[in-house]
Amino acid sequence: MGSSGNGFANNGNGQKGLLAAIEHRWRFLNGFVRHPNTVGAVAPSSKALAAAVCEPLTRAPRPVCVLEVGAGTGAVTRHLGSLLTEEDELDVCEIDHDFADIIEHGVLNKPPFARMMARHRVHMLRMPVQALPGCGKYDFVISGLPLTAFELQDVEAVFAVIRRVLKPGGVFSYFEYQWLRRTSRMLALGKRRDRIRAVNSYLTQNLRQHKFAGKNVLLNFPPAHAHHLRFDN
Ligand SMILES: C[S@@+](CC[C@H](N)C(=O)[O-])C[C@H]1O[C@@H](n2cnc3c(N)ncnc32)[C@H](O)[C@@H]1O
Repeated sequence: MGSSGNGFANNGNGQKGLLAAIEHRWRFLNGFVRHPNTVGAVAPSSKALAAAVCEPLTRAPRPVCVLEVGAGTGAVTRHLGSLLTEEDELDVCEIDHDFADIIEHGVLNKPPFARMMARHRVHMLRMPVQALPGCGKYDFVISGLPLTAFELQDVEAVFAVIRRVLKPGGVFSYFEYQWLRRTSRMLALGKRRDRIRAVNSYLTQNLRQHKFAGKNVLLNFPPAHAHHLRFDN
């Protein structure tokens, strides 16, 4: 089976898959225009970036319990579909209802997720990540959240929730666009500059303390870097 850069089917149903990919890109761009600071990107992640951010999961003993946060139109969710089995569990958290509809109806209710759905092993959580309940549930948290566009207190709240919901030894993976923090720090002025500096210093400190692996991904627009962190090391 062939697939486009974002994992849409592109075989016998090639035209349908291509139209769906174009529609999802259009809706993603629309989402960015409506809520630039929440969406934080003009295009969904490429297949290469989705693979890089999910990489630690490929080597994990099964079953695994995974949380995806900031799922957008499902570029990473689709990739997770190729990695997870019926024994695994996936919760997908997305704040934007239009994007959550696309994921629920266009991804989770279709193969390869439909069987996990039927066994209630996949859940769509339509809420801000900051409101997630629970403690020590997940082996992996995979994030597409645009952390560099957030206020410092939101980034701190997100990290606190992620640390709370991860099992001991669990892995937090996220990506950021290359050079974004450095260039926006140089170009921003006034309060925006202060915000970027504060967020940058918080993220840098967490990466120094907790990052155990990472990968540059040039095959993405814009090029990105996937970070993998473990908090109790
Ligand atoms: C850059 S997009 C990433 C989409 C997708 N993961 C990808 O890689 O293509 C960021 C997503 O995070 C979502 N988001 C932003 N703030 C959020 C929050 N506090 N809780 C949950 N989702 C949030 C946005 O609605 C958007 O869909």
